Amino acid sequence: MGNPLTAGLAQNLIPQPCTLVIFGGAGDLSARKLLPALYNLSLDGVLPTNFAVVGFARNELDDSTFRAFARDGIERFSRRPLDEAHWADYSRSLFYVTGSFTDAQAYVELKRRLEKIDSEFGIPGNRVFYLSIPPSLIATCVEQLKANGFVADPGEGPISRVIVEKPIGRDLATARAINATLARTFDESQTFRIDHYLGKETVQNILVLRFANSVLEPLWNAKYVDHVQLTVAEEEGVGLRAGYYEEAGALRDMVQNHILQVLAMIAMEPPWSLDPENVRDAKLNVLRCLRPLTAGDIDKQVVRAQYGPGYHHGEEVPGYRREEGVRRDSTTETYVALKVFIDNWRWAGVPFYIRTGKRMPKRVSEAAIYFKPVPEILFNTNRDAPLEPNVLTLRIQPDEGFSLRLSSKLPGPKVRIYPVKMDFHYGATFGDSSPEAYERLLLDVMAGDATLFMRRDAVEAAWAWMMGVLDAWESSRTRYLPEYPTGDWGPVEADRLIEADGRKWRTL
Ligand code: BG6
Repeated sequence: MGNPLTAGLAQNLIPQPCTLVIFGGAGDLSARKLLPALYNLSLDGVLPTNFAVVGFARNELDDSTFRAFARDGIERFSRRPLDEAHWADYSRSLFYVTGSFTDAQAYVELKRRLEKIDSEFGIPGNRVFYLSIPPSLIATCVEQLKANGFVADPGEGPISRVIVEKPIGRDLATARAINATLARTFDESQTFRIDHYLGKETVQNILVLRFANSVLEPLWNAKYVDHVQLTVAEEEGVGLRAGYYEEAGALRDMVQNHILQVLAMIAMEPPWSLDPENVRDAKLNVLRCLRPLTAGDIDKQVVRAQYGPGYHHGEEVPGYRREEGVRRDSTTETYVALKVFIDNWRWAGVPFYIRTGKRMPKRVSEAAIYFKPVPEILFNTNRDAPLEPNVLTLRIQPDEGFSLRLSSKLPGPKVRIYPVKMDFHYGATFGDSSPEAYERLLLDVMAGDATLFMRRDAVEAAWAWMMGVLDAWESSRTRYLPEYPTGDWGPVEADRLIEADGRKWRTL
C-alpha cells in the first residue's frame, strides 16, 4: 500500500516538462533545501521526464562546479543518501549560468542556454523561475525577465511561473509594493508565494483530519473549544543570518507567515471544494476576522523578548545582542507570545495563544486544541484537583503525529481518574520518512497547483493585521526587551500573559 498521506490535498498532480531556473542557485537555500528536494523527487521518479535545472547567480561557477555544489548539498542535507548510479544520470540535467541580476547581458546568455537546453531535453519552452534572493532584488529580476521576453501570458504558449520566497516585504506597504511589481509581469495564477510550512505533511494533514473525519468537526467551535495553543520553538539561535534577522525578528519571520497560515488551517470553515481558490478563500476569511490589536491591547496581549546567553548542548553560547552582526542595543525580538481572537461565529471568545522563539529548550512545533472542562459534577467535584481537560495535539514536528488526551479510570477498587493518550505517530504507522516540504511544493508549482501557496490577498491581510503590533512597537521606542536564558521557554511576562486568564502554557 502506498502512503495515502503523500497524496496530500490535491488530486491528479501532473508536473509539466520544464526548466527550473534558480535565481541564487549557488546560495544557502539552494544547497540545503532546493537541490536536495529535487534530487529526492528524481529518486522517486516523479519529476517530469523532460526536466532540467539551471542555477543562475553572480558566483563564478560552471556546469561541473555547480554539479559538485549540488552533490555536496545532497550529501549533507538530503532526506535519502546519494545513490551513485542515479546521480550519474540525474546530474546531467543540472546547469549553471553566471551573471549579475542587474546585467541585461546576463539574461541574454541565460536565454541562449535555456533555448539550447529546451532542444536537448525536449522541453517546450516551459520555465519556472525560483527567486531565492533578497526581497530588494525581486523587482530587478522580474523586470529583466519581462524585458528579455521570458514571460508568456497564462494560457498562451509555453508555461511561465515564478516562485517567491518569504518574507514578502517587511510591512504592509512593502508587501504591497512587491506584489504590485510581481503583478506587472506575472498573472496571479503564475505566481507562487512559498511558505514551506504549508508543504509539511503534518500541516497538510490538518485539513484531512478536520474534514475526512466526522467526529471532530461538530466539536470544532467556541461551544466546545476552550482555547488553542500554537507553539513553534527552535533550539538554534540566529546563526549566520543576523543580517536578515535583525530586520525581521520573530513576528515577521515566523508569525506573519508560517504561524498565521497554520492558524488559518485550524480555524477555517470547510471549503466547498478542494479547488485551490476555495481553500485559499476559506483561509483568507480567517485572517480577515483576526481581531485588530490596538495600542491599548499590546501590553496585555503581546510579549516580546530576546534570548540571553546560556548553554546549548553543553557549549556556551552568546545572548542575542552578542551574536555576530547584531547591534549591541538591538530591539529585535527573538521570541514573541500573543493572544489573538478570531471574531466570527465559530470562534467568538476563544483565545488562540501563540508563542515562538529561538534558543528554546527543544525544537518543537505543535497546535493544541483544549476542549472545555467537564462540569463540576460526577467525577469532577474536587475543585482543588479538577480533571485534566481533553486536548487534541497536532504535532507538526518532530515526532510527527497527533494525540488525544482523555480521562480514564485507573484500574482498582477506588474510582480514580487518570489522563491517558490516544497517540498516532507517522513513523510507526506509515514507515519511511515523509517527503520534505520543498519536495511537495516544487512539484505543485510544476503542476500549476497553487493550493499550498500564499495568495496575494492573504499575504496582505496577514500584514494588515500585524501592523497593529508593529506600529505600537515602533512608537514605544523601547530600548530593552525582557531576556530569557538560552534553553528556557521564554520570559516570565509570557507566563503572566496566559496565567492572567487562568490557563498555562503546555509543558513540552
Ligand atoms: C524559516 C525562518 O522560514 O523557518 C527561520 O526564516 C526558521 O528563522 C525556519 O528557523 C524554521 O523552519 P523549520 O522547517 O525548521 O521549522
